Amino acid sequence: MSAEIVTEKNFVTVEEHILNQQSNHPTSTGSFSWLLSGITMAGRIISAKVRRAGILEILGEASDVNVHGEQQQKLDILSNKTIEQCLGYRGNVGIIASEELDEPKVIAGTSGKYVVIFDPLDGSSNIDVNVSVGTIFAIFERESGNFNGNDPASDVLQIGRRQLAAGYIVYGSSTVLTYTTGHGVHMFTLDPSVGAFVLAQENVMMPKSGKYFSVNEGNFNSFPKGIQEYLKWCKTEEAGPYSARYIGSLVADFHRTLLRGGIFLYPPTAKTPQGKLRLMYEANPIAFLAEQAGGLATDGSQNILDKAPCSLHERTPLFVGSESEIKRLRGYLDEWD
Ligand code: AHG
Ligand code: MN
Ligand code: MN
Repeated sequence: MSAEIVTEKNFVTVEEHILNQQSNHPTSTGSFSWLLSGITMAGRIISAKVRRAGILEILGEASDVNVHGEQQQKLDILSNKTIEQCLGYRGNVGIIASEELDEPKVIAGTSGKYVVIFDPLDGSSNIDVNVSVGTIFAIFERESGNFNGNDPASDVLQIGRRQLAAGYIVYGSSTVLTYTTGHGVHMFTLDPSVGAFVLAQENVMMPKSGKYFSVNEGNFNSFPKGIQEYLKWCKTEEAGPYSARYIGSLVADFHRTLLRGGIFLYPPTAKTPQGKLRLMYEANPIAFLAEQAGGLATDGSQNILDKAPCSLHERTPLFVGSESEIKRLRGYLDEWD
C-alpha cells in the first residue's frame, strides 16, 4: 500500500497574503505590507529566542523595573529591542511606543507615516516556566500634518477605532501570527522548516457563545458585585456549568477564546482598581481582532474601541469574548453595579 503523501495546504505566506489584501484595497500602498513584514521578521527572531530561553542566558529578571514598577524580564528587553530594530529602519515608521519604553520614540530622520504601539512580550511572568507568551501590536497612521511634530503624544494617543491594523504572535506549542487590517482576521503558523508564516486560517470567526470563562479567580473577593454574580451563574447546572481556563498570558487566553468562544475577564481589583491590562497595547488590539471576528470587547461600561486614551500606559478593565457572553455579562453589571 503506497504511503499516504501528506500534501501541504496551498502555501500562502503572510507577506503574500498582505500583498493580496493590498490589491483588494487600492487605497493602501505597498508600504503597509513592508511595515507588516518588519513585524513578522521580529516575530521570527523572538520566537527563536523564546524557544531557546533555557539554553541562552536570557531567562530570569533584568536589572530594571519598567514604568509600571514591574520587574522587567531579560526577554522583555530583548523582545523590545528586536521590534525596535526590525521596525526602526523600515523608513515608514515614524513613531514607536512600547510597554517597555517610558515615552514614545520618534524614529529620527524619517517622516514615517505609521505609529506602531506594542507589548513586546506579553505574559512574561510565564517565560521561566515554559508557558505560552506572546507579542501584541497596534498600528495607527500619524495625525495628518503632524509629521514633524515634536510632541508625538497626539500621534500615539488615538482612539482604538482608528487602528489601521492589529495583531498578535503567540509563542505556544506552535508560533501563530494573527492579524487584521479591518478586513477579517487571518491566522498564520510559523513553519520552522522554512522560517515562513504560512496561512492556516482565513476570516476566523469567534463562536457566538462558548462555555468557557477565563479569569484570575484569586482576585474574586475584590471583583465588582456584577462580575461575582456572573461567575457564580457560570458555575451553575443551569449554565452548564462552564469550564474555567486561565493561562495568565492575555495573548494565549485570547487566542483560545477567539477559536473556542467564551469570555476572558480582567476586572477591576483591589490591587488594580482601573484593571491591570493596558488600553493602548493590550486591550485595543485585542478588541479590534475580537470585533473583526464577530465578538465584543468592553470595559464594563463602554466598548474598548471607543475609549479616548489619556496616557500611553493607562490601564482598563477588559471583558472580551463571544457576543452572547459579553451581553449576558453586561446584564449582570447593569443589575448589580
Ligand atoms: P505583561 O507580561 O505584558 O505585563 O502582561 C501580563 C498580563 C497579561 O498577559 C495577563 O492576562 C495578565 O497579566 C495576568 O495577570 P495576573 O497574573 O494578575 O492574573
Ligand atoms: Mn502584556
Ligand atoms: Mn509585556
